[in-house]
Amino acid sequence: MDLPTKRRALLKIIVLGDSGVGKTTLMNQYVYKKFSQQYKATIGADFVTKELQIDDKLVTLQIWDTAGQERFQSLGVAFYRGADCCVLVYDVNIHKSFETLRNWHEEFIKQADPADPDAFPFVLLGNKIDIDGGNSRVVSEKKARDWCASNGNIPYFETSAKEDYNVDDAFLCIAKTALASE
Ligand code: GTP
Ligand code: MG
Repeated sequence: MDLPTKRRALLKIIVLGDSGVGKTTLMNQYVYKKFSQQYKATIGADFVTKELQIDDKLVTLQIWDTAGQERFQSLGVAFYRGADCCVLVYDVNIHKSFETLRNWHEEFIKQADPADPDAFPFVLLGNKIDIDGGNSRVVSEKKARDWCASNGNIPYFETSAKEDYNVDDAFLCIAKTALASE
């Protein structure tokens, strides 16, 4: 059945972050409920779609997974344009992946060039909280939340793509955040 257009929304979500933090794995867990231990670098960018109902709207998330490795990045400005939300991902066990969030954030704003950069919706995910029962984490939840607070109150989720922890909640927030800004 065709829904009236005002009850449908297609939302473009772009996922950014260092290589190996788990961008592809999070997406596969969310969309296919599958986890793979094996690392296979993403080359270029690819998207998957997922439909969900939010209030009276049928929302189609178009989730763009990107390459963290510089040599596999080949995204032009057009790729970023029209994004409704940018998801930043880091690994709570690797400090460098937290430090580079600033660069990913900056790069996104530069490329996407949104009308109001301060109001553009981001969501931050701190992934791999399962590793070593949390004993090997080097970025505290507080530190991450402070970063979010000082960057325009970015919503924050701690996730495990392996254990499927907080993945649905995070993407629901991502969808709602994107929808609100559409
Ligand atoms: P690029 O495509 O190079 O940018 O990397 P990526 O961010 O897509 O990382 P990817 O999803 O391929 O995950 C890298 C490795 O981390 C894989 O071996 C995954 O199995 C593993 N991994 C991802 N998420 C988790 C997690 O939550 N917990 C654990 N223990 N391992 C994870
Ligand atoms: Mg990947």
